[in-house]
Amino acid sequence: MRHLIDPTDLTREEIEQIVALGEDIIAHREKYREACKGKKLATLFYEPSTRTRLSFTAAMMELGGDVLGFSNANSSSVTKGESVADTVRVISSFADIIAMRHFKEGAPLVASQYATIPVINAGDGSHAHPTQTLTDLLTIKREKGRLDHLTIGFCGDLKFGRTVHSLIKALSRYEGVNVILISPEELRLPDYMLQEMQAYSNLTFREVRTMEEVMPELDILYMTRVQKERFLDEEEFDRVKDSFVLDTEKMKVAKNDMIVLHPLPRVNEITREVDKDPRAAYFRQVENGKFVRMALILTLLKYAEKAPAEGAAPRYSEPFEINRHVCHHHSCISQTEDVDQLFRRSEDGTLRCAYCETRLK
Ligand code: CP
Repeated sequence: MRHLIDPTDLTREEIEQIVALGEDIIAHREKYREACKGKKLATLFYEPSTRTRLSFTAAMMELGGDVLGFSNANSSSVTKGESVADTVRVISSFADIIAMRHFKEGAPLVASQYATIPVINAGDGSHAHPTQTLTDLLTIKREKGRLDHLTIGFCGDLKFGRTVHSLIKALSRYEGVNVILISPEELRLPDYMLQEMQAYSNLTFREVRTMEEVMPELDILYMTRVQKERFLDEEEFDRVKDSFVLDTEKMKVAKNDMIVLHPLPRVNEITREVDKDPRAAYFRQVENGKFVRMALILTLLKYAEKAPAEGAAPRYSEPFEINRHVCHHHSCISQTEDVDQLFRRSEDGTLRCAYCETRLK
């Protein structure tokens, strides 16, 4: 059984196969019209979403399959205290594949240990968003013609921006990628990501505090929203919320073929005038999301047919250190659900929680 919880669950070859399948679907939509006839996708969304949930829904409908699920945890038995583990055990007998979004980091990993059908992480807390990454990669491939030898500036909320974390991990597999991290001090990339980036041999990175100083060298500018919902302190949010605004003046010094990406939703970090610039690729990016999710659903259902789930739950995909340490990160799923404490040892010898990747102090 294969799940997609983190972008590193897919090899570079597998990512490229999914991106190529997405391109084939765009070119030959008719061919895939009944590819999932008789199959059901369950969308379990414990946190709000427009693009991800509806693009998964549209993707399954275009493949000839059906969709069930909830878009708000309040309309499910979660309000009665049902756990993620029990919920997905139940859903496994109703559907063929699950897409889950959750406000707690690691919830989709828990789901993958108890489900007997493939689980796709549709965004967990400020941790990861691997299907946005596939969307971004298909967009970069279509817009730039390549996934290597690129200078990409990530701008805004790099601390809570799960799309940034996941795309950097995926790009670390490509040659000649130069990452520029543009954020205020308060919204820097989390420590675990910075440590990981130091270990990537084929990726270079540096941190800067202004967009203007790097604009002319960028092939891609990846804008992000400052994520109000993740702040514990409202005053801190007010201090940083307007840190970066991309406008037509700033676009003047960018390369003619630079593209602007944004996972959306946007608030005020890109002015409306920029939408008219042909380099603004964020609405084309949204459309690619549906096609790449079609490709992912097809791929995971094919894997599940070849290798169904085996053994009793919980099924662990790697040799974790089990219940020997405790994670204290406030937004980790292990804080609210009765799950085994799982840690993995990183290459630098540190222990990290398998759910939220917080380092053991
Ligand atoms: N990009 C993204 O995840 O958007 P939604 O929150 O609307 O799903």
